[in-house]
Amino acid sequence: MTKDGSKFEQLSDCGKPLWVVAELTYKCPLKCPWCTNPLDFDDYDNELSTDDWLRAFRQARDLGAMQLGFSGGEPMVRKDLEILVEEADKMGFYTNLITSGMGVTEERLIKLKEAGLKQIQLSFQHSDKDKNDLMVGAVSYEKKIEVLKMIKRHNFPMVLNVPISRLNIDAVEDLIDLCEEHGIEFLELANIQYYAWALLNRDGLLPTKQQLEIAEEKVERARERLGNKVQIFFVIPDYYDGRPKPCMNGWGSIHLSIAPDGAALPCHEAKVIPGIEYPSVKDHDLDWIWNESPAFNEFRGDEWMKEPCGSCEDKKKDFGGCRCQAYLLSGDARNADPACSKSEHFDVIQSAIENAKITSGYRNPIVMRAKGALSTKLSELG
Ligand code: FES
Repeated sequence: MTKDGSKFEQLSDCGKPLWVVAELTYKCPLKCPWCTNPLDFDDYDNELSTDDWLRAFRQARDLGAMQLGFSGGEPMVRKDLEILVEEADKMGFYTNLITSGMGVTEERLIKLKEAGLKQIQLSFQHSDKDKNDLMVGAVSYEKKIEVLKMIKRHNFPMVLNVPISRLNIDAVEDLIDLCEEHGIEFLELANIQYYAWALLNRDGLLPTKQQLEIAEEKVERARERLGNKVQIFFVIPDYYDGRPKPCMNGWGSIHLSIAPDGAALPCHEAKVIPGIEYPSVKDHDLDWIWNESPAFNEFRGDEWMKEPCGSCEDKKKDFGGCRCQAYLLSGDARNADPACSKSEHFDVIQSAIENAKITSGYRNPIVMRAKGALSTKLSELG
């Protein structure tokens, strides 16, 4: 810990990409309207080859990376997933799979186990079959239940990840019951972060403060009842916190994402910030990318900060919040994250909250993630 009690500064000092996420593909059979993939995901069709990925993993490991997440889109779409996991395991990575469950079969799960996969994060949406399928735009509930049982049967440590929005926040008790019924030990109720498709659909997804408080009470009651039987993580949305989140533990601090086309990114949303050229692992060594590239140095340290962040006593704890959210909501990535009550753009957050308060049910038509579905550009959202 640092003198002021910040655990984050200590981590930033290590200067290694400890946590690497390989976004293997943007392809996905689901159409989740809160997807974190870029709005223009259908413009990408040049995915890295198996050899490109393995070269990048080796370079990341040489840099000191320890954890490697396989994500997407839906990573099971990649037919070489088992090879990638096996080679990454041999390199010494702790590997985990972040999946919707679609494309998981018993045969592939056994191969992944043999390949050395250490942990699986399965996404889930609703305890009600029809609502679940409606939310993701595809028949998937029964498949997810089947996969959940399969993962348990093969003794993978598993986290059930439920992205929380107003579409399912009233069902947290039923979701907890579902975990208890199936012996799931870790449940992450993760309030959606509003980027990409989630920002596009924010009016239809942001829960009200009252919904959030009721859900928190239910979670507290369940924690008392269940103890360690089901460990529940409830991630509060920064919109209701008044404080910005220390996004990615600071830009270029411990996190490295690699997009399907090979672009190396300090976070999965970084491409939304204009004027930064993100180097590709096809053209550059990760050592140079991490240590030397302008993109990864753009928001390191605090010299880039404007006021009020520059003189804020919390700047080494929260790093001014999220650069991508600062750009998306204020038009300048150097501004304080508008989720911070000290930001001059805090009113943007407040009006989103006000809007959520007067919105009931499924007021706005929600744009499902799909090729060609985009009719509104983020720049038009204001
Ligand atoms: Fe990019 Fe927060 S998501 S810095």
